[in-house]
Amino acid sequence: MAHLEKDIEQLQFSAEKLKIGSLKKHIFICTGPKCVVGEEGLKSWEHLKDCIKKENSNEFFRTKVGCLRICQKGPIGLIYPEGAWLHTLTPENIDRVMGHLKTGESMPDDLVFAMDSLGKKD
Ligand code: FES
Repeated sequence: MAHLEKDIEQLQFSAEKLKIGSLKKHIFICTGPKCVVGEEGLKSWEHLKDCIKKENSNEFFRTKVGCLRICQKGPIGLIYPEGAWLHTLTPENIDRVMGHLKTGESMPDDLVFAMDSLGKKD
């Protein structure tokens, strides 16, 4: 039991270092290989990392994933808490999305192909 408590403490320490608990946006991006060739996907991933770093904010969290099961018109992205699914997240389109996220505007219509309310009640 003490071993489990120690594991939980280590997990909590790791989460705290990542500022989990004060996040406002979580952006997932698929780097392929089916929706986009790996090189293009990685370029978008690196660009997203740079954009978030420039924000110098603990509110944005990013996660690179291997597949979001859409597998076309990538890089595919998913943003919480909006529940917005986006296609073609090139570096240029990531700039557009970040602009919207910073101002609180809704996502660019031409990039969003699905919305999920994730159980939120209207
Ligand atoms: S490989 Fe990107 S969504 Fe499946």
